[in-house]
Amino acid sequence: MRVLVVGSGGREHALCWKIADSPLCDALFCAPGNPGIADVATCVPVAANDLPGLVALAQREKIDLVVVGPEDPLVAGLVDRLNDVGIKAFGPSAAAARLEGSKAFMKDFFARHNIPTARYARFTDPASAKAYIQKNGAPIVVKTSGLAAGKGVTVAQSVAEAESAVDSMMVEKIFGDAGNEIVVEEFLAGEEASFFALVDGETALPLVAAQDHKAVGDGDTGPNTGGMGAYSPAPIVDAAMQERVMRDIILPTVRGMAADGCPFKGVLFAGLMIDAKGPKTLEFNVRFGDPECQTLMLRLKSDLLPALVAAADEQLKYFDLQWSDDPALVVVMAANGYPGTPAKGTVIGSLDKAAAVEGVSVFHAGTKAETRDGKNVIVANGGRVLGIAATAKTVTEAQARAYRAVDAINWAGGFCRRDIGWRAAAREKQKV
Ligand code: AMP
Ligand code: GLY
Repeated sequence: MRVLVVGSGGREHALCWKIADSPLCDALFCAPGNPGIADVATCVPVAANDLPGLVALAQREKIDLVVVGPEDPLVAGLVDRLNDVGIKAFGPSAAAARLEGSKAFMKDFFARHNIPTARYARFTDPASAKAYIQKNGAPIVVKTSGLAAGKGVTVAQSVAEAESAVDSMMVEKIFGDAGNEIVVEEFLAGEEASFFALVDGETALPLVAAQDHKAVGDGDTGPNTGGMGAYSPAPIVDAAMQERVMRDIILPTVRGMAADGCPFKGVLFAGLMIDAKGPKTLEFNVRFGDPECQTLMLRLKSDLLPALVAAADEQLKYFDLQWSDDPALVVVMAANGYPGTPAKGTVIGSLDKAAAVEGVSVFHAGTKAETRDGKNVIVANGGRVLGIAATAKTVTEAQARAYRAVDAINWAGGFCRRDIGWRAAAREKQKV
C-alpha cells in the first residue's frame, strides 16, 4: 500500500512510526511532516489545511490510503474531497466532524441522544451569556463553540472570571470566529480520561484509554494547553468502566450519528470526566489525541494499517487489536512562552542522547531542520516541540526513563512539566 499521513505533530510522527513498521506499507508519505517524521516517511511540503494541494498529492502519488491526523482538515472536508475522487481515507466526513468542529452541535447531539454530559446553554451574544453565568454562579465553564487548538476553554472559579472569558471570546475575539458562539456549562468534578474507539460507521472497536495533562504547570495549574503529557493505560478506566463507556457513550453516538444521516468513521475520542456516579462526556474529538496517540502507538502490538483500512471499508466487525500491558508515558517539551506565543528558532541539541535511553522514543512535534554556521541543526518551530515517550513495566519506571531522556536534551529555549503521570505513579506507590 501507498500511504499518506496528513499533519506535522507528535501524533503524526507516532502514526508514521507505527505505519512504517507495517509489512503492508510499501511507501509512506507525510504532508507536511517534520524532521523526525522524515526518518520514516517522505515528507512533502503541502500544508495540512491545503485541501486541493493534498488531493492533488494523493492523486499524483497514487495513494491507497490517506490518514488524516488533525481536526482542521477533517472539519473542512478533506475526507469528502478525497472520497469524491475515489481515494480512500481514514477519518470522518465534514458532517460527522461537526462533533468536534462545533461544540454547540456536539452538545445538542448529546441532548438529543441522551448521552451523559454537563448541563449547558448556547449563546451568540455576551449579555445573555453573562446573565446565565450570574444566575448559575461559579465554578462554571465557558467554551468557544468553534475550534481553538484546545485552548478555547475557561474553567472559571468566579463569576468575574467567567464574564471576562466571555468578553475575551466574544468581544475581543481572541480565538477569532471560533468565539462567535459559545457554550456555558456546568462544572464537573472528578477524574479525567481520554477514551478512544475506531469506528466504521456502524461498528465501534474500543482501543485503550489514556490520561492527559492539559494544564501548563506542575500540579495541574495554569492555563490549558493542547496537552503537556500523557500516559496509558488510565487506571480509572478498568474493564468494567470501558464496557460502560462503550454502552452509554460510544455506541449511542455511533448509532445516533448514523440515524442523523452522518455516520461516523475514523477515531472517536471521548474526553471523559469520571466520578462516583460514572462517566460524563466533556467533549468529543474526531481524531487521535496528541500527545495521547504517542502512548497508544507505543502500546499497540498489532499492525495499525489494516485496522485503519477496515475502518474506512466498514469491515471493523471482523477486527481485533492486541495491546501491550506495559504502560507508556510521554512528556511534552514546549517552547518558552507556550501556550501564549512560543519562542521560535532556538536550537535543540543532543536528541540522539535522549533517544538512546532504554525504552525511549523521541517524537517530533514542532521542529524544523536548519543550517546554522554550516551545520545541520534542529530548531523549535511551534508551541509543543517534542514528545519524549517511554515504556516500562510500571508508570513509575516509564516516568523515570522519560525524564532521564528529557534531561539528556540540550535546549535552553524549552520547558516541560516535571510531574507527568503523578496520579498513576501515586497509585503504584500505594499498592507497594
Ligand atoms: P475540552 O476541550 O472541552 O475537553 O476542555 C478542556 C479541559 O477543560 C478539559 O480537559 C477539562 O480539564 C476542562 N473542562 C472542560 N469542561 C469542563 C467541565 N464541564 N467541568 C470541569 N472541567 C471541564
Ligand atoms: N490532548 C488532547 C487533544 O488532543 O485534544
